[in-house]
Amino acid sequence: MTEHNSISYHRPNLEKQTFARTNRQTIEQRATLIAELLPNTTSIAELCCGDCSWQHRHYSDTLNIQHYRSLDLDPAIVARNQTAGIDCICANVMDRHVLHTFLAADVVFFGPPLSVDCDGHQLLSFHNVTPSFTDFTDLFLGELDYNGTLVCICPKTTTMGDAAQLYHPIQQRRNDVGLRLIHHTYATLTGSGEQTAPRLKYVELWFSSQLADRWELRESRSI
Ligand SMILES: C[S@@+](CC[C@H](N)C(=O)[O-])C[C@H]1O[C@@H](n2cnc3c(N)ncnc32)[C@H](O)[C@@H]1O
Repeated sequence: MTEHNSISYHRPNLEKQTFARTNRQTIEQRATLIAELLPNTTSIAELCCGDCSWQHRHYSDTLNIQHYRSLDLDPAIVARNQTAGIDCICANVMDRHVLHTFLAADVVFFGPPLSVDCDGHQLLSFHNVTPSFTDFTDLFLGELDYNGTLVCICPKTTTMGDAAQLYHPIQQRRNDVGLRLIHHTYATLTGSGEQTAPRLKYVELWFSSQLADRWELRESRSI
């Protein structure tokens, strides 16, 4: 945990090889969904990005992406991403002035730490994630009035009740924003490329002012 303006945030220990990176199969599934639901997407932003070199490459290779921008609180992670040629900035995702510069993105992924110190093992529940999904959506959708598709990457234990608790306050402020998709992403490869039985990785909530309010439940399973 790191103190930032007296609030504590989880940041990865880069000495450990096992720190949480987004699963590659999950990234492929996200690209497939974007191609299907939002085929005109040309800009993607990734907030609390961690090491985002794989998604940067995959989105550039498979989608018509002209702009990819990312943000993380951890200077070492940001430096690594910049070295990989990614437009990545070091900031707190709850900084409204910085967040303002991400409003033009067609699709925004919000992926806060889902485990203690991002170790991928000590998993946090939906309501224990910091920055919280409620605080972030209140700022980004409510205050800053983002128009586009915001994908909240939530813990695998997230329930329909959790989704509803996030949805209702959003709807009260923004009745043009609906919950298009509740996406359960399964992977069969570990971070180090070993084959495993299918494991649920994340529950993604696809909020959008561009797509219908359908609450569609979907599972993606890569082989
Ligand atoms: C491990 S990554 C998650 C990766 C990816 N977004 C995903 O969905 O799988 C979480 C990242 O959030 C960053 N982080 C934690 N608190 C943050 C904050 N307040 N603002 C910006 N980044 C933050 C951490 O430094 C860490 O790199």
